[in-house]
Amino acid sequence: MSEYVDPTQFVITRRRKKYKFAKFHNAENCFEFDEWTKRPVDVVEIGAGSGRFSVELALLHPDKTFVALDVKADRLQKGAYDALERGIKNIYFIRARADQVSELFDEQSLDTVWVTFPDPYPKKRAAGRRLTHQHFLSQYQQLLRPTGSFCLKHDNPEFFSWSLEQLVAAKWHIEELSFDLHESELSEEYRIKTDYERRWLDEGRHTNFVRACYNRT
Ligand SMILES: C[S@@+](CC[C@H](N)C(=O)[O-])C[C@H]1O[C@@H](n2cnc3c(N)ncnc32)[C@H](O)[C@@H]1O
Repeated sequence: MSEYVDPTQFVITRRRKKYKFAKFHNAENCFEFDEWTKRPVDVVEIGAGSGRFSVELALLHPDKTFVALDVKADRLQKGAYDALERGIKNIYFIRARADQVSELFDEQSLDTVWVTFPDPYPKKRAAGRRLTHQHFLSQYQQLLRPTGSFCLKHDNPEFFSWSLEQLVAAKWHIEELSFDLHESELSEEYRIKTDYERRWLDEGRHTNFVRACYNRT
């Protein structure tokens, strides 16, 4: 890891964000895109925010290795310190953009790619930024093992329907689907709540969920 940065030097300057960047920089489980060296990973959450959802999954699956990836270090550091304080060692936090994901992991190496409550970018002209756009789906497909899964959770029905259409158009097979995950019989681990999910559920919204596999035949 690179040189230590004293987080306290930022505290009294009202530069709260810089303080959080320094915390990210110092944590042994946090990596900038260009600091990461490839190692075996099973599950990646893209646009993970704090990554606390992945932290809970990592706790449930000590035999697997997890990565929470986001562009925002100040968010990721929250999950990173949560994992460190709880002694959860099978998770890493990478500050990177979603379009860089193919450079971080080997082809056909991942068991699961999670995308949880991504920004919906409702304007048509911004569709290319949606993390379920075809160009992201094809990257996920290349990274997943033949039996691997892509999982998506979202509260916005329009975004979710659009994402389902993208999956079907790209020949993914829908394995599990719910328009109200928390009232469904699906696996309890899918129902672990992300930070955003907790907020949306409190506002009375539902979680849509899909698990899809790529049909290679
Ligand atoms: C609405 S938040 C959801 C956060 C988290 N998944 C949750 O459910 O609590 C969307 C997250 O995606 C991240 N994000 C947006 N575009 C991204 C991109 N191109 N690459 C990586 N992260 C991105 C944002 O920084 C933000 O943390």
